[in-house]
Amino acid sequence: MATSGLQATHSLRFLITGGGRGLGRGLARQLVQEGHDVFVVDIDAKELQHTLNKHLPSSSSSSSAAAASSGPGKFAGTECDVSSLASVRAAIEQAGRFHRGGKVDVVVNNASRTNPYWSHGASTSRPHSDSSDRDGDGDSVGDGGESIIEREWRSFVDTNLTGTFHVSRACVPLLDGGVLPSIVNISSTRAKMSEPDQEGYASTKAGILGLTHSMAASLAPRGIRVNAILPGWIPSSHESIAGDANATPHNDGLTTADEEQHWSGAVGTVEDLKNAVLFLATTRFADGAEIRLDGGMTKKMIYVEE
Ligand SMILES: NC(=O)c1ccc[n+]([C@@H]2O[C@H](COP(=O)([O-])OP(=O)(O)OC[C@H]3O[C@@H](n4cnc5c(N)ncnc54)[C@H](O)[C@@H]3O)[C@@H](O)[C@H]2O)c1
Repeated sequence: MATSGLQATHSLRFLITGGGRGLGRGLARQLVQEGHDVFVVDIDAKELQHTLNKHLPSSSSSSSAAAASSGPGKFAGTECDVSSLASVRAAIEQAGRFHRGGKVDVVVNNASRTNPYWSHGASTSRPHSDSSDRDGDGDSVGDGGESIIEREWRSFVDTNLTGTFHVSRACVPLLDGGVLPSIVNISSTRAKMSEPDQEGYASTKAGILGLTHSMAASLAPRGIRVNAILPGWIPSSHESIAGDANATPHNDGLTTADEEQHWSGAVGTVEDLKNAVLFLATTRFADGAEIRLDGGMTKKMIYVEE
């Protein structure tokens, strides 16, 4: 009879995209500290090298690593642009060579274009000029005749949506035969709610939810589960070269109001994300699921007080 899942302490083999900095880096560190093996990929060579050569080596011997029954896990990584299929295939091949038995148990699709707004103050509400920034909306036209918004729309789709699809498909042979294999896609609460001028980000994060349940359906016959996490506000800029150099705290620059507007009383942490990833990774009945991880913000009704 099938068991309902695994102990979270079972040492798993992870592949994390966008693990060079930010939440992906924090997730990689915490998983390594708990005894899991992690292969990270990122387009940012400088942050990735710092993570692999300095940050993870110095943090993997910390106290929670000592608490893991078999000590810290192994880690490695490579540069990869998830929007390029050739780059993804090369990176996945390396991940297969790194991991025990050439298999991966959990793929975390975390890499993303993360600033949700169009650059340079460009706005969807002001139609762009065809040949120059005549209306002053900041959405000027570049050499190829493409405006900032058109170019960035493609970039959001290529990285956030196509990248997640490329990595997921390329990993199927490695997941096949893994331990309770699954894919965890990192979406966003902005898949469900909006501020102005975020069409590229919001649409691709919503697209990831469709990709999650359609791939869960397609991969079920292979025993591969596909789930999504929708984070709300989880500070991540301290997970970087600059954050390490300045010993930046996770809630740097946040006001009391920023924190207390959440029903949880605080913004999220990397540990919250890690707990959600491990829950999905180890729970057989979690399939095609969406976990909102936002301190209640997407359920909180907001009216102006008279
Ligand atoms: N931090 C939050 O509050 C928050 C909220 C909602 C959703 N998220 C999601 O969580 C994830 C991590 O966010 P973060 O705050 O750590 O952002 P971040 O910008 O610090 O990290 C994103 C990482 O992805 C990498 N990346 C970007 N394009 C890539 C590409 N083409 N190929 C490979 N790697 C690429 C970047 O180099 C970076 O290391 C993202 O998917 C983001 O959308 C974050």
